[in-house]
Amino acid sequence: MKRLNDKVAVITGGASGIGEATVRKFVAEGAAVSVWDLNQQRGHRLANELSGQGAGCDFRKVDVVSLKDVTEQTAAVRETFGRIDVLINNAGITRDATLLKMSEEQWDQVIDINLKGVFNCARAIAPVMAEQSSGVIINTSSVVGIYGNFGQTNYVASKSGVIGMTRVWARELGRKGIRVNAVAPGFIATEMMKTVPEKIEEDLLAVVGSEANATRSLSGKVMQKIAELVPSLVGGSADLAPSTNTFLKAYEAITTLF
Ligand SMILES: NC(=O)c1ccc[n+]([C@@H]2O[C@H](COP(=O)([O-])OP(=O)(O)OC[C@H]3O[C@@H](n4cnc5c(N)ncnc54)[C@H](O)[C@@H]3O)[C@@H](O)[C@H]2O)c1
Repeated sequence: MKRLNDKVAVITGGASGIGEATVRKFVAEGAAVSVWDLNQQRGHRLANELSGQGAGCDFRKVDVVSLKDVTEQTAAVRETFGRIDVLINNAGITRDATLLKMSEEQWDQVIDINLKGVFNCARAIAPVMAEQSSGVIINTSSVVGIYGNFGQTNYVASKSGVIGMTRVWARELGRKGIRVNAVAPGFIATEMMKTVPEKIEEDLLAVVGSEANATRSLSGKVMQKIAELVPSLVGGSADLAPSTNTFLKAYEAITTLF
């Protein structure tokens, strides 16, 4: 018996990086997965590859910034799969600059996708879960949302905000049978991190400690670990085995909050 048999999951930003690893893991664990992303090429390729496996996988071009888009696709996923059990709010971007150089556009883009996008998806999908009296929402924060980081005013504000929203929803939605949690990855070498300037990366590594250096070279494995952990959260039995990576440390720190 696979851990996620009969579960239907929406994974935002699922076309690459941590999201893609999570999509693969969910399908392997028996879930039906709807990948929501802007990257049509990668999204379609992934869904085509996985659609014949397990309970299946589809791709929908969704901009999480648009509540209209998100609401329409929520209805469409429900129509296709009959229910929605899991929402992984994973889509996110960086637009780094120090405060003195940060433009209004850089601020708005990051807050729109990383913060409003998370609100939009939860706002649209939580009512479906409330009707079912069950569901799990997992929001993706970051270790910098806890510690702060040089050159990331917008990103840190968004990721701290995600922790705040998670705390609120854990209280508001818990009574409706919906569990809400957050994960806080450390440094993982995905497409997103290629855009992060070296100085900011160095400061992040200084903040999260030397284990992050190991994390860098082991990024594939770490990503896999995250992808493995997320289904555990859905099943309510988070595997918090002793770890050697930053993500799990941050994860442990954050889960003590709920
Ligand atoms: N990589 C890291 O070191 C790291 C560390 C901490 C937290 N995170 C968080 O993990 C999540 C995934 O990051 P990643 O490193 O895998 O990045 P990534 O760039 O590989 O993946 C992000 C995905 O989000 C999608 N996306 C961007 N804007 C979108 C929008 N408006 N609507 C729908 N989809 C959109 C992108 O197309 C992409 O496929 C992000 O929330 C990120 O902030 C990453």
